[in-house]
Amino acid sequence: MGTVNSGPETILKRSREADLLRVSTAGSVDDGKSTLIGRLLYEANGIYEDQLAAVRKDSARFKREVLDLSLVMDGLKAEREQGITIDVAYRYFSTPQRHFIIADTPGHEQYTRNMATGASTSDLAIILIDARQGVLIQSRRHAFIASLLGIRHLVIAVNKMDLVDYSEDVFRQIVRDFDNFSEKLQAPDLVYIPVSALKGDNVVAKSDRMPWYKGPPLLNHLENVRILSDRNLIDLRFPVQYVLRPNMDFRGYSGRLASGVIRRGDEILVLPSRRKTRVRSIAGYEGELPYAFAPQSITVTLEDEVDITRGDMLVHSANLPQIRREIEAILVWMDQAPLVPGKVYYIKHTTQLFKCSVTHLQFRIDPASLSRRDATALELNDIGRVTVQCFRPVFCDEYTKNRQTGSFILIDPLTHSTAAAGMIIERGRLTSTARPADTTVSPAAFIHRQEGAILNKDRGRLLKQRPATLWLTGLSGSGKSTVAYEAEKKLIAAGHLCYVLDGDNVRSGLNRDLGFSPQDRGENIRRVAEVARLLNEAGLIVIAAFISPYREDRAQAKKIIGEDRFIEVFLDVPLEICEKRDPKDLYKKARAGLIPEFTGVNAPYEAPEAPALRIKTGELAVDLAAGNICLYLKEKGFLEAL
Ligand code: ADX
Repeated sequence: MGTVNSGPETILKRSREADLLRVSTAGSVDDGKSTLIGRLLYEANGIYEDQLAAVRKDSARFKREVLDLSLVMDGLKAEREQGITIDVAYRYFSTPQRHFIIADTPGHEQYTRNMATGASTSDLAIILIDARQGVLIQSRRHAFIASLLGIRHLVIAVNKMDLVDYSEDVFRQIVRDFDNFSEKLQAPDLVYIPVSALKGDNVVAKSDRMPWYKGPPLLNHLENVRILSDRNLIDLRFPVQYVLRPNMDFRGYSGRLASGVIRRGDEILVLPSRRKTRVRSIAGYEGELPYAFAPQSITVTLEDEVDITRGDMLVHSANLPQIRREIEAILVWMDQAPLVPGKVYYIKHTTQLFKCSVTHLQFRIDPASLSRRDATALELNDIGRVTVQCFRPVFCDEYTKNRQTGSFILIDPLTHSTAAAGMIIERGRLTSTARPADTTVSPAAFIHRQEGAILNKDRGRLLKQRPATLWLTGLSGSGKSTVAYEAEKKLIAAGHLCYVLDGDNVRSGLNRDLGFSPQDRGENIRRVAEVARLLNEAGLIVIAAFISPYREDRAQAKKIIGEDRFIEVFLDVPLEICEKRDPKDLYKKARAGLIPEFTGVNAPYEAPEAPALRIKTGELAVDLAAGNICLYLKEKGFLEAL
């Protein structure tokens, strides 16, 4: 040991190039995991110390650089801030090639939890198999979770080779068994290494007791595995963690780049406000930077004064994440208390933390066979596919494209324990590991739209109007129905055919099966939009009066009805006024805890950003408000024949 065959300058250079490999380890009790990690640390550090001693007297600079693991620790701190409760010990060591962080997950039965939290940021997973035991269900589960977590590099360390007389046959059998299983996994890089952690064979130094093994020892493999291409440097996702406002002249946004590259002068878009502006400056630990890339922690300032808060995200305007309230995900359940569909949890996604509910458990995945099973609950360590309804939109990507914006955790609101780790997948798509046996065809495949001979133009001529849907949105008590019926009266009086769709009415008939969860409200709005569209096609002017508190739902309504026909009208009335009016005593009941999820009290209302019309019934009489709506229709040419 200690053969330093290059001068301090070379080592100095190498150490600057040294990057960081995050490794997770998984094994069952007694697989020898601790021994393996201990040996890696001890022997690798031994070499390192020798080299250090050799160059120490020559280069104080070198010493400072290689000993500076603070950046590494910063990374861990950031992880902790993500809210992941960790019962994983991290060990770190370096060789001249690389820094290493090994997540040492305890080998007791809660391995799933430990692995999912410890491995969530790993580049590589070492899965230990006891040569005497062969491939166990746990080994498969570990590999499956690693592949779910998108860890591209797997090392199967077949340990305790000394106890099977370093037998090549035993090793080959394990390789065959595991290969059979791993064909179904998405593991692009799978390497098998026969080792004895106890005796030190093939851990740091190559063993001469297994001459039939031609590959490198473990450490050598860890030093050389190429991981750079695994990082997503394409999609800029900068979730804002803190807004810095030390004085009136400076406003900076700090956080850690989840992915991508950001440059000074870049045009960026702020989510959810969709405001566009440019990057004025970027600062890192060492001061001003022309550009920065993931996973650097930075502070940016922008050219324009934009209202940005924690949880907002800066992206490039030509490369947007998905903006979703409903997400589909694979969950690894980690809590003693099982998953209860419908229960409210907290979701932690990038720098956002808010409530959600797991509305649907689609199936459980059996890690031994990788097939799906029916399930009504997920128990500790179970893996399943679910639909999650978030109470606010998340800015996300699929996990396979972006590990940072594609992952989340669920937190139990009462115990504050991490209940699950989740990976976002594309809606309606199944992972290759869990394809259903019956490939049923969607009924939509057999539906064909019919067209009659009458054109909308003909109806428009008959009715002397162009159909449109006025979409009145606002809090309960903001005056939606009152204004809607008043406008209807005026339009009918002027000879126009018009019809009001009102929340309470529709909910007592067509939508009486729906409640007020975010999902049900979404469905309420979707159905109403479909009805409005049919009425528009029949030539009518529709006035829809619905709280429709979610932007995403209103955007969907606009899409269904058609952009040119959809007119968003915001009844912009402060909550205090609505609550004071309280025409149906609902606010009173909600405040008394009798109505769950009442908009404005214990459910959100997302005001429109750019409504076509803004009506303040707090300041404007009903008659004038309705008059404004008619005037708008007239000015835009809706009240004339087509
Ligand atoms: S929406 O949110 O799905 O658009 P919608 O406009 O159809 O709501 O229905 C709102 C009406 O339902 C309110 O005027 C009120 O009378 C009644 N209501 C009952 N429970 C709730 C609730 N939890 N939140 C809001 N409105 C409620």
